[in-house]
Amino acid sequence: MTPVQIYSSAVFALVLVGVSFRRRPKIHIPIMLSAFALDLGSVVFLQIQRRAVQKAASKPTPILLVHISFALASLILYAAMTATGTRLARTGLGRGTHRVLAAIFLVCRAGTWVTSFFVV
Ligand code: HEM
Repeated sequence: MTPVQIYSSAVFALVLVGVSFRRRPKIHIPIMLSAFALDLGSVVFLQIQRRAVQKAASKPTPILLVHISFALASLILYAAMTATGTRLARTGLGRGTHRVLAAIFLVCRAGTWVTSFFVV
């Protein structure tokens, strides 16, 4: 595993820990926001280090396109989870939406992780 893959695996493990604390918002919320920040950090790092976007734009392999699609969807869904989670914490509304988006997010984040092993 490359250092970035180890980092990404650790963040994914943190996401799973955060989901296991889904009934305890005081623990769940800081863990999920930390995972969001850490995943954003790796995108910024890859962009600076490897110019990932330019690489994807010039000669993308099919698996790289799948990987980037999962990664982009995960980042958008992090924002959606933050919005629906904040609403749920403040008003108690939108639990169903937060839960459905969580399932889609987990598929996308798992997809990002699995495909990361095939794009190196
Ligand atoms: C990708 C990130 C996240 C995932 C995958 C996730 C997932 C979940 C899941 C599966 C639940 C249980 C829903 C149910 O009742 O069936 C939950 C509950 C909750 N989440 Fe999230 N969440 C995420 C991020 C956030 C964030 C960023 C916030 C707040 C800013 C948040 C706030 C909450 C709250 C308040 C609850 C209800 C806790 C309770 O039962 O009292 N979540 N989350």
